[in-house]
Amino acid sequence: MNPWTSSRIRGLKHKQKFATVTVFDYTSAKLADQAGIPLLLVGDSLGMTVLGHESTVTVTMEQMLHHTLAASRGTSHALLVADLPFLSYQISEAEALRNAGRFLQEAGADAVKLEGGAERVSTISRLVANGIPVTGHIGLTPQSVKQIGYKVQGREPAQAAKLKADALAIQEAGAFALVLEACPAPLAKEITDSLEIPTIGIGAGPHCDAQILVFHDLLGMYENFTPKFVKQYAKVGDLIRSSLQEYVHEVEQGSFPGPEHSYD
Ligand code: KIV
Repeated sequence: MNPWTSSRIRGLKHKQKFATVTVFDYTSAKLADQAGIPLLLVGDSLGMTVLGHESTVTVTMEQMLHHTLAASRGTSHALLVADLPFLSYQISEAEALRNAGRFLQEAGADAVKLEGGAERVSTISRLVANGIPVTGHIGLTPQSVKQIGYKVQGREPAQAAKLKADALAIQEAGAFALVLEACPAPLAKEITDSLEIPTIGIGAGPHCDAQILVFHDLLGMYENFTPKFVKQYAKVGDLIRSSLQEYVHEVEQGSFPGPEHSYD
């Protein structure tokens, strides 16, 4: 199987819907890669899912590089996209280029993702002009949670118009795909129909070209956190908990390790 490139991903537009998922380490990347998923994102949701932070705002470059490198070791075929964390690309284009380049040079990523609309056009163009494939991200942009909260975006006509203009601007700047997070399905359809690059929806309805879910959410790792847009394809959290309880019980009872797990 040939490895996925950003231009192959872009070429799926109008041809085939596809699934993508976040990964955060060697094991999750290997499992998702083996499942044949063409694009894996080391999302800065790492902050909450793996590091126990309250939001993505506190995630650092070093944490993202560390986890992206681990994920890259488990990825053979998929395109590995790394999230540029908060303040790694907003201060200047030069810093954005340096930080994005580090993901390719030091951490094995194939592309980066950054949040924001028309205000990111010159940064995206600069990265693309220097050989770095970029995915945009508009709608609910979690790095702006202190400003916008975790709210569906684009319900108001003015906000919807801005998102449509942002999407076109990001495509013009050279992004190969665009994440649409938490926006009404009809708006996501309009944006998807207006673009020549694939839209990757999360909480943006069924009309996007692709979907993305957070690894831990789709596998049901948490007991009581399931946003409306998440479908749990398994209850892995329950399975892990009960397996651990069984292990504890067997050790306490003396039935593990048995002869089959012991050396003569
Ligand atoms: O960090 C993340 O997991 C993301 C996805 C929700 C798109 O940005």
